Amino acid sequence: MRILVLGSGAREHAIIWKLKQSPLVTKIYCAPGNAGIGQIAELVDVVPTDVRGVVGFALRERVDLVVVGPEGPLAAGVADALEEERIPVFGPHRNAALLEASKAFAKEFMHRHGVPTARYAVFTAPEQLEARAFLRHVNYPAVIKADGLAAGKGVIIVETEAEALDTMDDIFSRRVFGEAGARIVIEEFMDGEEASVFAMTDGIDYDVLATAQDHKRLLDGDRGKNTGGMGAYAPAKIATDEVMAQVRKEIIEPVLKGLREENRIYRGVLYCGLMIRNNRARVVEFNVRFGDPEAEVVIPLLEGDFADLLLRCATGKLKEVLPLKNFDACAVTIVITSQGYPESYETGKLIEGLDAFDQKKEIEEGVVVFHAATKLDEHDKVVTSGGRVLAVTAVGYGDELKTTITTAYNAVAQIGFDGAYYRSDIGSKALPKT
Ligand code: AMP
Ligand code: GLY
Repeated sequence: MRILVLGSGAREHAIIWKLKQSPLVTKIYCAPGNAGIGQIAELVDVVPTDVRGVVGFALRERVDLVVVGPEGPLAAGVADALEEERIPVFGPHRNAALLEASKAFAKEFMHRHGVPTARYAVFTAPEQLEARAFLRHVNYPAVIKADGLAAGKGVIIVETEAEALDTMDDIFSRRVFGEAGARIVIEEFMDGEEASVFAMTDGIDYDVLATAQDHKRLLDGDRGKNTGGMGAYAPAKIATDEVMAQVRKEIIEPVLKGLREENRIYRGVLYCGLMIRNNRARVVEFNVRFGDPEAEVVIPLLEGDFADLLLRCATGKLKEVLPLKNFDACAVTIVITSQGYPESYETGKLIEGLDAFDQKKEIEEGVVVFHAATKLDEHDKVVTSGGRVLAVTAVGYGDELKTTITTAYNAVAQIGFDGAYYRSDIGSKALPKT
């Protein structure tokens, strides 16, 4: 099987690392990839959102499966275009990718199909007067979201009406999110603990991967700015059997049924961002792809042939390999970022200590370093090339989470670059309180 993976982060590195373990795979391309991915796949100079470019490459290289990492290409219609050429693709069609690309669409879709989520209202820029009146009567804190894709920055939790009005001006008048802020969703603030559930589906059948918990804030103790994700662990005990039964019945199944009824083709992974309270989950958001950094912990826990699984999702043949099975293990990933992330930061810093983690050793020792933003400099040395640089992942077979966290941090301590930053408490909220 010849596979093309779109994307360049630690999520795509984890996907390719797992695909490499499949005896079915003969060739993996990654567009555009990074220095770590370049060690195990062939990097190609195609922009993932350039739909024509992706389809052209896939046809030319006789690719059997395209796996889409990020949301951008899906929102641009890459799955539709590939399927027109009969190339199997792991990722939903554009009109289903709206679940992530438009928060207003997602809320209205959930409303139509009775999926539990926060109460909400949608307003466009010309409806500012109505929005102002609405904000007079909501409970605070409340949440204001830009409708479109805003790289995880389009969600603002407002504590007061004054702050809400100011935020609305930022979006509608100062246009801080550009076109993504042409509409806003104002919604009820939900209390509780967050977890991410991933449903692998061929549009009809589905099963879930291990449940994970992300750490979105920059600083220890869940303080500081929101980021793309500073680390994750799996499985997350907060998603009890009772919660998961509810999630299947009240969230995943109605969503898949609703997508079918509305002729929105969904073959891929549905990411359900949940808020859990009193053993009940409500939807915070949907994403139409794997989470990052959650992928780095849920994918290593999965048993079986990943290439076969993704191809089955892409071609409507999932049923025969269900239920999915996980190893009796837990996983932790710690993201190392550039100093200054998520604001401004420098790149091009030499990364030291990576040699200790070559592919073979990684698997034996239960540690694997996924590259998030790295490249080779002119001397073929690995240097930083973005905000989130590495995702250092430990898998503990039969181990306690606590031991696995220690393994991950021991590995982190061996790696360094100028300005490297990471949280020191990833996973600790899942440990028994002492
Ligand atoms: P989203 O991009 O929609 O996932 O929002 C980013 C983050 O904002 C979520 O992971 C939550 O931590 C927070 N958030 C979003 N919506 C709500 C809500 N209605 N209540 C509480 N927190 C929220
Ligand atoms: N971990 C959050 C995301 O992938 O959107």
